[in-house]
Amino acid sequence: MNLQLEDRTFLVTAASRGLGFGVAKALVGEKANVIICGRSKKPLKDAASSLGTRCQYFVADVATPADVTALLNFTREQTSKLDGLFVNAGGPAPGTFTEISDDDWSKAIDLTLMSAIRLTREAIPLLKKSDAPSILYSTSISVKQPIPNLLLSNSLRPAVIGMMRTLSEELGPDGIRTNAICPGYIHTERVRQLMSTAKSKGDAAEEAIVARIPLGRMGTPDEFGRVCAFLLSPLASYVHGALLLVDGGLFKGMM
Ligand SMILES: NC(=O)c1ccc[n+]([C@@H]2O[C@H](COP(=O)([O-])OP(=O)(O)OC[C@H]3O[C@@H](n4cnc5c(N)ncnc54)[C@H](OP(=O)(O)O)[C@@H]3O)[C@@H](O)[C@H]2O)c1
Repeated sequence: MNLQLEDRTFLVTAASRGLGFGVAKALVGEKANVIICGRSKKPLKDAASSLGTRCQYFVADVATPADVTALLNFTREQTSKLDGLFVNAGGPAPGTFTEISDDDWSKAIDLTLMSAIRLTREAIPLLKKSDAPSILYSTSISVKQPIPNLLLSNSLRPAVIGMMRTLSEELGPDGIRTNAICPGYIHTERVRQLMSTAKSKGDAAEEAIVARIPLGRMGTPDEFGRVCAFLLSPLASYVHGALLLVDGGLFKGMM
């Protein structure tokens, strides 16, 4: 299947490694041009180099409004239109209700919710210039069922879904598709960190999770990236306002 991504341009945030990198890699594999961002220059530059000349990078913290504006200014300098935006950020801090302070809440709101709002707002004019624009919000299985010790993710990611669903109404008439992708457990640095701080540490924590996944393993960033590339592509032209789990069957609900 030809995803018709050749020479289209995508902005993929938080992408020097992990899920964002998996998405950038899948898009470049389909001959799309990609702009990636992250906070640390060296790993970001290395990630962009590994993807070749179709990938450019810009150092930006998506939790910081000025950085989001600078990232979109850079994007406008590189391209006259944007075919897709993959909205991603680092994960909010773990913790339970009694452990999380007002400051933690404020930081997590900037990181998880306001980043999605600001990126969307700044990208819309460029997206409107594409013949097949779409926005894909990366959230989590936590929008379907809460994950223990991840109160901030469980609380704030559903707000991103609320925005995405509302935008499907507001932006649909302009031809801009909005969707969300909800990873379960994809083997990345973030998951390794969460495992090492879990109550049953390291390998034991991973085994306990994998035991609940019908496919018997965590996913890979490449598997995640391929699904996202499809959802961002013109071939997904009638998928709009949808949430898709990529979780190996971990979510047990019927809907
Ligand atoms: N992996 C999973 O199974 C899974 C499941 C559900 C949800 N998620 C969520 O998906 C997101 C990505 O997770 P991941 O597993 O790919 O994590 P990861 O392996 O730790 O990678 C995170 C990437 O995001 C960048 N980043 C972090 N904070 C950023 C910021 N404020 N602005 C710009 N770039 C930033 C990092 O680079 P710098 O550090 O240099 O900025 C890095 O490139 C997180 O929000 C995570 O909670 C992951």
